This record gives sequence, C-alpha cells and structure tokens, in this order.
Amino acid sequence: MILVTGGAGFIGGNFVLDWLATSDEPVLNLDKLTYAGNLQTLAALEHDARHVFVRGDIGDTTLVPALLARHRPRAVINFAAESHVDRSIHGPSEFIQTNIVGTFNLLESVRGYWSALPESERISFRFLHVSTDEVYGSLAPDDSPFRETNPHAPNSPYSASKAASDHLVRAWHHTYGLPVLTTNCSNNYGPYHFPEKLIPLVILNALAGKPLPVYGDGQQVRDWLYVKDHCAAIRCVLEAGQSGQTYNVGGWNEKPNLEVVHTICRILDELRPRADSQSYASQITFVADRPGHDRRYAIDASRLADELGWKPAETFDSGIRKTVAWYLDNDAWISNVTSGSYRDWIARQYEG
Ligand code: NAD
Ligand code: DAU
Repeated sequence: MILVTGGAGFIGGNFVLDWLATSDEPVLNLDKLTYAGNLQTLAALEHDARHVFVRGDIGDTTLVPALLARHRPRAVINFAAESHVDRSIHGPSEFIQTNIVGTFNLLESVRGYWSALPESERISFRFLHVSTDEVYGSLAPDDSPFRETNPHAPNSPYSASKAASDHLVRAWHHTYGLPVLTTNCSNNYGPYHFPEKLIPLVILNALAGKPLPVYGDGQQVRDWLYVKDHCAAIRCVLEAGQSGQTYNVGGWNEKPNLEVVHTICRILDELRPRADSQSYASQITFVADRPGHDRRYAIDASRLADELGWKPAETFDSGIRKTVAWYLDNDAWISNVTSGSYRDWIARQYEG
C-alpha cells in the first residue's frame, strides 16, 4: 500500500480518488483534518476497504512510526501542509509547525522505518514530497519560466516554509540516502478546491451576488494546472522518477488574475445567467493588494515531459469549464465547507 498524508485536502483528496479509480493498491490516508481537510471529499470511499483513513498529525512521532510498522507502505506521498498564502501572512506559526517541523518529524519517522526494511524493499521505497513553484520566488515579465535549477528565493511565510521543507527532504537524501522525489507544481484548480483560493472563491461569490475581490491591479500572473493533471504527474514521478531528483510540474497556462476572473464570469453568464441579465463581471471589485505579492510564476516542466513522458490532458479552457460546472453541481459539498470557520476567515480577510 501507499501512505498519503493530507489526503482529505484539495489535491490529496483528488489524488486518493484518482488512485483508487485506476488501481487496487490500498491507500493509508493520514490527515489532521484542519479547516482545509474535508472527509466529504472522500465520501465515495466510505465503504471501500482499500481506503484506510487515520486522523492524525504528520509530526506525531508516536503515531506515524506505529502506522508505518503496521501497514508497511512501499511509498509515502506527502501532501500535508498549510497551503494558503494569505493565512500565512495573518498567522505564520502553523506554517512553520506543519510545513517545517512536521516535515522534519515525518522524515525522521520514515527514515526509521525505511532503514529497517529488508534490502529489496529499501531499494524500491520512495518518499515523494509535494511542493510548489512559489519556492522559486517571483519572475519579471520577460524572465524564463522556473527550471529545477533555479535557486530557491521564497517571499511569503508560506513559500519560505515550503522551501525549508524542500531543503530538509533534499538533505535527508544526501545525508542518509533516503530515496526521495520532490515535485514543484504551479497553481492547481478543479473539484474540491477550498473556496479561500481565487478560482473557487470567485465562482461562489459570483453566485452569491457578492464582490469578486481582485488584489491590486489584477495583473499578477499564475500558471494554472488542472488538479487531475497534477495527480497524474505525481503518479508518473512516483513510478519512474529518479531517486533524489526534483521535477517541476506546470500547465503552460500563464494567465493574469483579472483574465481568469473574466473567464469565470463569461462561463457563469452562459451556464447560470444572472436574473437581471447583467454579466457577473459587474461584481469585480479591486481591493488592497496582498503584502509582498509575487508578480509572476511560470513553470518549465520539460524535464517531466522529456524524461518521463508526462503532459497535461486539459487546456485551461477545458479545465476551467469543467471546474465551474462542478461547483454548479455540488451544492452539498459547498455548504459543508462554507460553514462557521470559513465565514470567520472571509470576514477577517475581506471585510475587516
Ligand atoms: P489543502 O490546504 O487543500 O490541504 C492540506 C491538507 O493537509 C488538509 O486536508 C489538512 O487537513 C492536511 N494537514 C494540514 N496540516 C496537517 C498535519 N500537520 N498533519 C496531517 N495533515 C495535515 O492543500 P492543497 O492545495 O491540497 O495542497 C496540497 C499540497 O500541495 C501542499 O503541500 C501544497 O503546498 C502543495 N501545492 C499546492 C498547490 C495548489 O495550487 N493548491 C500547488 C502546488 C503545490
Ligand atoms: O503556485 C502554487 C501555489 O498556488 C500553491 O503553492 C498554494 O498552496 C496555492 O494556494 C496557490 O497560491 P496562490 O497565492 O497563487 O493562490 P491564490 O488562489 O490564493 O491566489 C491566486 C492569485 O489570485 C494570487 O495572485 C492572489 C490573487 N487573489 C487571490 C485571492 C484569494 C486575488 O486577486 N483575490 C483573492 O481574493
């Protein structure tokens, strides 16, 4: 079996669902169920014996070694993290705790387990660390997209904590020989995305008749990848990636934020027109910029494409249409995640 951490979150949840849709290899899913973790995402697996869910912290040095000893996974895929940049600006402490200390403790638990494995299992074991393009910092308009060789230059508490975790993973390979893989991916979007992030926030605010908050001038560029393409890339790296190597993952889909928001408005105008026939774009509202806001991210994923043969299945146009349609069709999931603590966050970030 494989151990997935953070498998009740956005990408981890999609990964677990896709894994079990294409393979019978069981998944041990360890998730702390923070505000971002949601078991409803995994409701289809409730009676599926291939999915074992454990609520717990990656940094728990009693629980994690016990789980490893009992379930003997052939691989660990580490999605668990605090992931929202704005929250990291309001309160960095949890980011340091989970993304740095938690990853350190997880690496130590895994190292203890891995070093006691019989040789054939030790050789084939993998620890795959899921990271972000934000560790590379911000690009100027004419800069080349990030390559794996770019130095880390993180700018937010979130990206600094992820960069630190990447360094720990790298060091555990070089010093202890732990067979690790690291993926650095661009912005994901798709089903089960928590609506604190731009794309789901805009969809839900539009439908609720609320302002669509665009930070600063809205010309910041992100490189968007449909979440299921990210999950496919991780499966590809897990099976064929070279131990100790890092792989950039991206969709070759650079878009300014304002264009993304206008695209969502156009799709909603078509699929769920407003009662007054006005465009949802009339709800766009420019608000104060994010402190330290990175201007541009772009990923060069050619190592993954050339060496492992991965390429995304979705274009931005096809993926964003599927995503909007998914939010229109999934009221129950949405009302579950937009309960009390979500409303507190929205009030603090946008109304305070
Ligand atoms: P998310 O916030 O939606 O989910 C994170 C999950 O981790 C949640 O289920 C949460 O309960 C769990 N978790 C948090 N702290 C934990 C802990 N200490 N122990 C166990 N579980 C814990 O995040 P996401 O968007 O799904 O991102 C997953 C990973 O992918 C993160 O490592 C993130 O840095 C990385 N990433 C995200 C994106 C993106 O666009 N969302 C892009 C590139 C990389
Ligand atoms: O690049 C990968 C990263 O993408 C991941 O590592 C992070 O976990 C993930 O959250 C995401 O980070 P971003 O900060 O790019 O995503 P977010 O959806 O928060 O914001 C996308 C862009 O939209 C960013 O430039 C900020 C802007 N934005 C965001 C929100 C929430 C707005 O203009 N208004 C908003 O209300």
